This record gives sequence, structure tokens and C-alpha cells, in this order.
Amino acid sequence: MSDVPQQSLRAALAQVIDPATGRDIVSAGLVGDIAVRDGLVQVSLLTDRARAAAMEPVRKAAEQALAAVPGVRNASAVLTAHTQPATPPAAAKPMLLPDVTAIVAVASGKGGVGKSTTAVNLAVALAQLGLKVGLLDADIYGPSLPRMLGLNRKPEVRGDKMIPLDAWGLKAMSIGFLVEEETPMIWRGPMVMGALEQMMGQVAWGALDIMIVDMPPGTGDAQLTMAQRVSLAGAVIVSTPQDIALIDARRGVRMFERTKVPVLGLIENMSMFVCPNCNHESHIFGHGGAKAEAERLGVEFMGEIPLLLDIRTGADSGAPIAAADPSGVAAKAFAAIAKRLWEKVGTAKQAGPRIVID
Ligand SMILES: Nc1ncnc2c1ncn2[C@@H]1O[C@H](COP(=O)(O)OP(=O)(O)O)[C@@H](O)[C@H]1O
Ligand SMILES: [Mg+2]
Repeated sequence: MSDVPQQSLRAALAQVIDPATGRDIVSAGLVGDIAVRDGLVQVSLLTDRARAAAMEPVRKAAEQALAAVPGVRNASAVLTAHTQPATPPAAAKPMLLPDVTAIVAVASGKGGVGKSTTAVNLAVALAQLGLKVGLLDADIYGPSLPRMLGLNRKPEVRGDKMIPLDAWGLKAMSIGFLVEEETPMIWRGPMVMGALEQMMGQVAWGALDIMIVDMPPGTGDAQLTMAQRVSLAGAVIVSTPQDIALIDARRGVRMFERTKVPVLGLIENMSMFVCPNCNHESHIFGHGGAKAEAERLGVEFMGEIPLLLDIRTGADSGAPIAAADPSGVAAKAFAAIAKRLWEKVGTAKQAGPRIVID
């Protein structure tokens, strides 16, 4: 079924006047994302917190205008915070997660390279080393942890904190545990920051040796939030051997360098195909590209993970391969990387006291 075109919806919203400025809300720039599915429309109207009450009639008028567009079955408009308070100096906001020895972001320049798969299995492998491990899904738009860990419970709330879910020897939190999968996600930048901050600050993580953060693809708000709000031990970049993915990996590395987050290393995923019948290895996408690229970028090459059917079926069935087949080739690859990662961030942190500015 073809859906109501955005243009018709914008045209309808252009009939709504913001009394404060006398301008229509579209040209005044108050209209944020418009989500449409099967005639159900949801729009966010950007507003200052201080004006939220005054904007209520505008919000209602916007809903009415949208509801009148042919094909619209239901319309809802929500007010979202427009202006963030100016970023306070670093000293004003305490860093989140002070009881976590090392926070490591697992990132990539683009999606689909196996970032979440790597994050989950690395976390499991770190737990197998006997460490206390947390796993945070920072992908607000496309959370993966509920599926990959096989979890569909809602976290309990105790006092003012949510209790992270326990699975496969680790503690996990994801927006996907809280929000139904079908809920339209019109999260704007400030809301991404809010949700991520809550998943760090309002979750009873307790003391952890290491927290693995499954980052969303690209170089957006979540990356900035992490760089600003926690003391990151560093980032590992996941890439596949194809050239294009490597180019994106380069972008990922640069982004972290810009925010002064150390890049701990590059992991090559879907490195070679391992035949499930005979264990023969085929380097379908060529060999050595990521290693050479890591050298060029001056970052450590942390290891390669084979392309294996079991890795995908494990991810899809909620049983991470590192736990489901701990003696298999995939688990061994993740274990080696986990060991190296802990060597890098565990010892570095233990070497000196944490510097806290307050
Ligand atoms: N090494 C691998 N072998 C086989 N399948 C993999 C491997 N790594 C990832 N996948 C599969 O590729 C898809 C994308 O992986 P995912 O971890 O969700 O990527 P990203 O988080 O980067 O978007 C998933 O279906 C996953 O099961
Ligand atoms: Mg992912």
C-alpha cells in the first residue's frame, strides 16, 4: 500500500501558524521528522522547553491539520526539546559510570559489518576470562541486543534505577528491552543523548571491570555523547575486508581521533569463509586488507573473525557463538581478541589512579 506522501503532510502543516512568531510552523523550522506507516502519522514539533505549554494549541492544530489529509487514519504530534541547554563545562557534569574500570566502544563507519555480533561475543569472551562485564546497546534506532541475547523481558525498576538484564554471564541494557519493536522511533539528536545517558546513569550497573558499548553505525550523536559523558578507555573499529568497508573504517577511526578517544585497534570481521563441512578457509574478499589498513592508520590490528554460518545463526537465535560453542573456531577468535583487549585496557587503568574532576 502506498503511503501518504511527505509533501502533502508538510503542506498541511504549513497551514498551522505559530502565534508567537506569526509564521507557519514549517517555514519557522518547527517541524522535525514525520513518520508515516499505513496511514498512521507521527510528527515531532521542535520547541524550547520553556514554551512547551504555549505550544500545546499548536500541537493540537498540527494533529488536526494532518488528520484532514486524505489517506491519514490517525495523526499524532509530539513536542520535543529543541534547544539543549548550552553544554556545561566538563567539570559541571560528573562523568557517568565511575565504577567501571574500562569502557570500550565497538564502532564502525557503516552498518552491517558485524559490529553488534562482535560486541556481544567479545563481551561473552571477556566474561569467560572471569571479568565482570556490562554490555550496553547504544544503537537507539536499531537495537540488536534483545535478538542477539535472546532477551525479551523488561528490566525491573528498583528505586530510581533500572536493573540490567543478566544473560550469558554479563549484564546487558538496551533501549530494545524498554520499547516495543513496532514503536516508531522518532528520536532526534537530543533524545538520543537523553536515552543513552539514562542507560548509563539510571541503570544499576554496579562495579564492572569492563563495559562493551555496541555503537550505532556512523559518526553521530551517540558517538559524541559517549566521548563527552564517560571516560572511554578507547574504541575498537570493526571492518569487513571489502574496500568500501575499509574506507568507512577509516572514517570511524578519524572520528574518534577528533574526539580524542584512543583507537585501540581494528578487528576484521567476515575475514575468511570457513566451510562448515570441511573447515577449509576461503578468503572470498581478499586477504590482509584490514591488516594493511590498520598499519597505514597506525592502529593495532587486533585479529580476524571468520565468516561462519554458526555466527549468524547464533546471533539470530539469541545464543552468542562464544557461549554456545566455546571450543569452536569463532569462540577462539573472540577469546584471543578479548584477551588482547583486556591486556590493553585493564592494565592501563590499573597502572594509575583515575583522574576525577569535580
Ligand atoms: N562473522 C560472521 N559470520 C557470519 N555472519 C555474520 C558474521 N558477523 C556478522 N554476521 C551477520 O551479519 C549480519 C549483520 O551483523 P550485525 O552484527 O548486526 O552488524 P552491525 O551491528 O554492524 O550492523 C547479522 O545477520 C549477523 O548475524
Ligand atoms: Mg548493530
